[in-house]
Amino acid sequence: MKLTRDAFCDLRNEAQRALRRSKETPSVLICAGTGCIAGGAMKIYENLRAECESRNLPVYIGLKHDTDEEKSLHVKMSGCHGFCEMGPLVHIEPMGIMYIHVKPEDCHEILEKTVLGGEIIDRLVYRLNGVAYPRQEDIPFYKKQHRVVLENCGTSDAEDIEEYIAKGGYSAFEKALFEMTDEEICRIVCADKRAEEKLDDLIALAKAQGAPDNVTAVLIEHE
Ligand code: FES
Repeated sequence: MKLTRDAFCDLRNEAQRALRRSKETPSVLICAGTGCIAGGAMKIYENLRAECESRNLPVYIGLKHDTDEEKSLHVKMSGCHGFCEMGPLVHIEPMGIMYIHVKPEDCHEILEKTVLGGEIIDRLVYRLNGVAYPRQEDIPFYKKQHRVVLENCGTSDAEDIEEYIAKGGYSAFEKALFEMTDEEICRIVCADKRAEEKLDDLIALAKAQGAPDNVTAVLIEHE
C-alpha cells in the first residue's frame, strides 16, 4: 500500500486524539532501560499486569481506545530516564509521581495506594538533603536539564510507534517524503557534514561559559 500524506496525517490525528484520551486515565510507566531491567523492571512490569488482571482491572497496553469502555489503566514500558542509579524507576501519570528503587513486591501497594487511591508512598520517593521529591519534574537532577532529542524519554511508551507519531515523531521523514526533492535532501545531508568544521567554535563557546579545559565535542556521523 502506498503511503499518502493524507493517510499519514489521518494516522497522526487519530494517534493524537488517542493520546489525549489516554491522558484522562491512570498510566504506569516502568523504565525498561538496561539498568532498570537489570534491577528487576521486567518482574515489576509482570507483577503490575498480573495484579491488574487478578483484580479484574482492564489493562490496556497502547494508545488506541475505540470506545469509552476500553478506557482503563495503562501499564507501559519507557526508555531509560537517565537516573539509572535510582532504578528501577516507576512513573505514574497523570500525577507525575516517580518512585525509585522499586521492588516487585511493591507493586500491590503502588497500585492500591497510588494509582487507585492517589496516595504517595513515602519510602519510594526520592530524597535529597532531607527534602522529598515525589514528582519527577521537581527532582534537582531533572530540573536543570533541557532535553531535546530525549524530550519524551521517560514519559512515552518506548514500544508504541503511534504514541511517537502523536508526539511529532517522523515529522522530518514526512517532510523529506512529501515536500523535498532528492537534491534538497542530499544538500541537507552535506550541510550536516560541514557541521564538523564548527566543532572548534562549539568548544570555545563551552569554555567561555565555564566548561572545564578538557571539554570536547563529538560529531555523530550519519551512515
Ligand atoms: S535504565 Fe532506568 S533510568 Fe536508566
